[in-house]
Amino acid sequence: MAGALVFAATACAEVRILGFWWENPLPYQATPKGLTTLSAAQCGVCHQEIYQEWLASTHAQALADKQFQAEMSKSPETNWLCLNCHTPLENQLAQIAIGVTAGSTHQPILKKNARFDAALSPEGVTCAVCHVKNGVVLGPYGDSKAPHPVRREPRLLDERACGACHQATAAYTDTLVCTFDTAEEWRASLYGARRQYCSHCHMPEVERPVAVGGPVRKSRRHLFLGSKIPKLTTLPENQRQYYDLYPNGLSVDIVNEKGLVKLVLKNARAGHLLPTGDPERFILVKAEMADSAGRMLDRQTYRIGQEWVWYPQVRKISDNRLKPLEERQVELRFSNPRHVRATLVRVTVENWRLSQQNAAYHKLTGVYPQSAVVLRLEKPLP
Ligand code: HEC
Ligand code: HEC
Ligand code: HEC
Ligand code: HEC
Ligand code: HEC
Repeated sequence: MAGALVFAATACAEVRILGFWWENPLPYQATPKGLTTLSAAQCGVCHQEIYQEWLASTHAQALADKQFQAEMSKSPETNWLCLNCHTPLENQLAQIAIGVTAGSTHQPILKKNARFDAALSPEGVTCAVCHVKNGVVLGPYGDSKAPHPVRREPRLLDERACGACHQATAAYTDTLVCTFDTAEEWRASLYGARRQYCSHCHMPEVERPVAVGGPVRKSRRHLFLGSKIPKLTTLPENQRQYYDLYPNGLSVDIVNEKGLVKLVLKNARAGHLLPTGDPERFILVKAEMADSAGRMLDRQTYRIGQEWVWYPQVRKISDNRLKPLEERQVELRFSNPRHVRATLVRVTVENWRLSQQNAAYHKLTGVYPQSAVVLRLEKPLP
């Protein structure tokens, strides 16, 4: 975790199991002069557009997330570890782990937090997590005329702004394992080599005043869009507009060589494996053959992702994710005699965050979006 934006905790009592930073929350932050609270809602009074963008992002949902809540209710004794990343500031935690018994994540010694700010905790990965340190607001400029102290922070301008939280591979027990490698995947890619940082893709550039009444500047949208799978079953209108600003990762081409139909799948736009992050994520590429009236004759599905067994011991069984810019051809085997009537191939790409089976296990079916269609295309057959 060297060089991460997330600064090591300095509390007198510290948890130390495997030595990862998230065994402790980020240290308590005082409210900078000129402000009365650290709450995003207050930042949003002046930074209105940025606030609206962040509100629509999954960072704002990091605590409310229904899957997160469901998982926490299943093994509450390890929640303290989860919360250190999903509501990472000490100010956001009602209770703090000051140690563990017998080196076990399942036996934390919890202490009531006298400096708990109940308004800040539902905000999840809130503005202050990335922007406030020692009473100063960290930013990309450092020279802005703000009603609060500001300082330019180089660590906000590269992958360190994101990599600390988005890089976690650790095995605590046979079944309590953190496993996502996004920052390392990025580092090993062409994007890492040419220093095209996470924010360059996930926070698209825009010229605008960044605060009410301020000058027009080069700024970045705080959308942090990824899979585009919404958290809420009905998508707010503004969120749909944001989705349109952001292309998905996979490109698909349909080629027809001597009667053999192939899909050319490419990780065209993601700066890491596709999909990255949570190992439960996967992509379904669904191809359909249709006749001249548009009637579906047959369907074939190709899955991109990892497969894990979670019990009795966590184990990865397979992984066919696409590396950055990797291209793969998938032959469509449509062999049924009625395919003679086929005149059209239709392809739909769906991003999934968890399987229907796991959603059912967590009682999330129907109340928590599991997938989203991110691409549709069709091509006539000769
Ligand atoms: C996950 C980290 C993260 C969170 C959460 C976050 N920001 Fe930022 N913010 C950044 C980064 C990174 C930049 C600098 C981007 C660059 O210029 O490369 C930035 C830039 C800014 C800027 C300078 C103008 C601009 O758009 O570049 C302002 C103002 C700002 N953020 C306000 C906020 C407010 C207000 C919130 C909460 C509503 C917030 N930020 C939440 C990471 C974050
Ligand atoms: C009362 C209005 C107001 C509030 C409240 C406010 N800001 Fe600002 N902030 C400003 C103004 C004005 C600027 C300067 C804008 C400019 O010069 O373009 C600014 C600048 C910034 C910058 C850029 C700093 C730099 O120079 O790089 C960041 C980041 C930022 N604010 C984050 C926040 C965060 C996070 C909060 C909440 C904890 C917050 N602000 C609360 C008005 C406010
Ligand atoms: C303090 C920890 C933290 C930091 C710093 C952080 N993130 Fe995140 N990020 C999270 C968490 C937690 C989630 C998952 C929230 C949820 O879905 O419940 C997340 C989700 C995301 C997603 C997933 C979107 C989706 O649902 O498909 C993207 C993309 C993302 N972050 C990008 C970034 C980028 C870019 C940065 C740096 C500018 C960044 N993050 C910094 C913790 C962090
Ligand atoms: C070259 C552009 C680019 C860069 C650089 C990049 N990403 Fe992404 N990222 C994407 C795209 C595009 C997607 C959407 C993939 C999809 O369609 O599911 C994505 C998806 C994600 C997701 C959601 C999971 C998924 O696969 O959908 C997370 C989390 C994420 N990125 C984090 C990061 C972090 C952290 C970094 C830096 C270490 C980073 N990204 C760098 C383009 C980029
Ligand atoms: C090291 C920081 C870290 C820790 C510790 C952590 N998370 Fe996360 N979590 C993340 C990040 C970053 C993401 C975004 C990656 C993604 O969504 O693919 C995320 C995403 C999630 C998601 C949303 C996945 C989706 O598909 O939208 C859930 C649910 C979740 N975490 C549950 C947990 C639980 C339960 C724990 C504790 C056992 C935990 N997390 C511990 C950083 C962390």
